[in-house]
This record gives sequence, C-alpha cells and structure tokens, in this order.
Amino acid sequence: MKRFEGKNVLITGSSSGIGQACANRLASEGANIVLNGRHLDEDAGLLVKEMEKLGTKIHFIAKDISAPQNVIDLVNEAIEALGGLDILVNNAGVERSADFWNVTPEDYDLVMDTNLKAVFFGTQAYAKYCMKEKRGGVVINMSSVHEEIIFPHFAAYCASKGGLKMLMRNLATELAPLKIRINNVAPGAIATPINKKMMADKAKMKALLENIPMERMGTPEEVAGLVAFLASDDASYITGSTYFIDGGLTYHYEEQ
Ligand code: NAI
Repeated sequence: MKRFEGKNVLITGSSSGIGQACANRLASEGANIVLNGRHLDEDAGLLVKEMEKLGTKIHFIAKDISAPQNVIDLVNEAIEALGGLDILVNNAGVERSADFWNVTPEDYDLVMDTNLKAVFFGTQAYAKYCMKEKRGGVVINMSSVHEEIIFPHFAAYCASKGGLKMLMRNLATELAPLKIRINNVAPGAIATPINKKMMADKAKMKALLENIPMERMGTPEEVAGLVAFLASDDASYITGSTYFIDGGLTYHYEEQ
C-alpha cells in the first residue's frame, strides 16, 4: 500500500522547483494532485502529461494566487476537481532583491501577497471546507531559513517568511480542535530556478557554500522527502513547528 493512496493534494506554485518535486514525490506514493502556476503554458501541459504516467489523477489549475480571491477559488476548484482535499501545500513564493531604501511598494506587495497573504487566505478557505465537511486535514507551508535568520537586501522576503512563522504557530492552536495539523518547512539554499542568477555567479556560490557545513546546496527532491513525511500519518502528532532542511546553515558555528 502506497502512503498517499487515494489522498488528494493541492500544491500552490508547483510548475517548477520545490513544488514540482513535492508533486512528483506525493504522486509517486499514490496521491492525486492539483498542480498550480500562474499560466497553463506548454511546459505546464508537458508536466501534467509526464506526471499522469505515475497513474494518479493530475490536474493543473492556473491562478495567480497573489490575489486573495484567486487563492480562495483555487482551493475550492481543487476540492471540486479531486472530490476533496486531504493535504494543502502552500509552496508558491517569490523574492525580490533591493537595498531596503529602494524597495518599491509594488515589489513589497508582490512578495507579501504571494508569500504570506495567499497562505493566510488559502488556508482559511481550506479550514472552512474542513469545518463544513467535519473532517481533519494537513497544511504544510514552504517557509525558509529566513523565517529565522537575516537576509540583507531581501527585507520584504524576510518579513513575509517571518510572518509565516507566527501565522503557522497561531493556526496550529486555532486549527488543532478541527484536527488540522499545520507545520512549516524551512529550506536553506536549494538548487531551483529561484536561485538561477546566484548559481551562475561563481563568487556568490563560493561565499554561499562556505556558510553551509555540508558544503553543497540541497535538492528539491530532498525537500520533497521532508514534505512527504510531514504530510503522512507518521507525523500524526506533529503540529506548530518549523522543520529546517539546510545542510546545517541556520545554526552553524565557524571555527576560528
Ligand atoms: P521556483 O521559482 O522554482 O518556484 C516558485 C513557484 O511558485 C513557481 O512554480 C511559480 O510559478 C510559482 N508562483 C510564484 N508566484 C506565483 C503566483 N502569484 N501564483 C501562482 N504561482 C506562483 O522557486 P522554488 O525555489 O521552488 O520556491 C518554492 C518555495 O520555496 C518558495 O516559497 C520559496 O520562497 C521557498 N524557498 C526556496 C528556497 C530555495 O533556495 N530554492 C529556499 C527557501 C525557501
């Protein structure tokens, strides 16, 4: 018996990177998946075709989740498409780099709306569904080591992920009576398109790797393994925590 046989999962921002790896991992363990990205383009169509080979139901719902009504509609359409929703992975995220004094209101809004507001209202829509159906559920938020440690020139990103930490802790208490578990996954440096620019810059990569005790970036598949654990019944008593997956980056000590 596969761990997620018959389970229905929505993963926001799953057309690439970590979200895509989570979709592949959960589908390969039997889950039906709703994938999401801003557009249903050729790549997304190919991804759906490829994933269908895993033998479960795969849907793609195009929505820009940075608008609250869109993420609410996404959750409700996913429930309708799959006939229910057992696991919500709030994965979509963006970052914008600028000195603090140059951050524009537009970039601030984009980052906060995608990384925090969408999680807030997507999870709210999911909780309402669980209440209506008198059923429990699982929520996993893709946070970042930057819910805990600083990232100069990424103030809005840090504010969004720091907000995600307290949102998750608060909801763990509010949602426990509804039998909904909620946790954060906090990746360090993972080799995905979000880091494309940095990965092409040798000096930046050298500085980054010097800060990681394991001396390498992580893979999206490694993050997906943690998400699968937290989504599974093996994690049935786990709620309200952040799980770091960072090769030792967050709390490392530099020997002199
Ligand atoms: P990515 O850029 O490959 O994936 C982001 C996904 O989110 C894409 O599928 C994109 O289409 C989607 N997305 C962005 N804005 C959207 C919107 N408004 N509506 C719908 N979909 C949207 O990046 P990656 O690395 O896979 O990031 C996934 C999550 O992991 C993000 O929340 C990011 O903050 C987090 N993360 C990534 C780290 C890394 O080193 N790659 C480290 C820590 C956290």
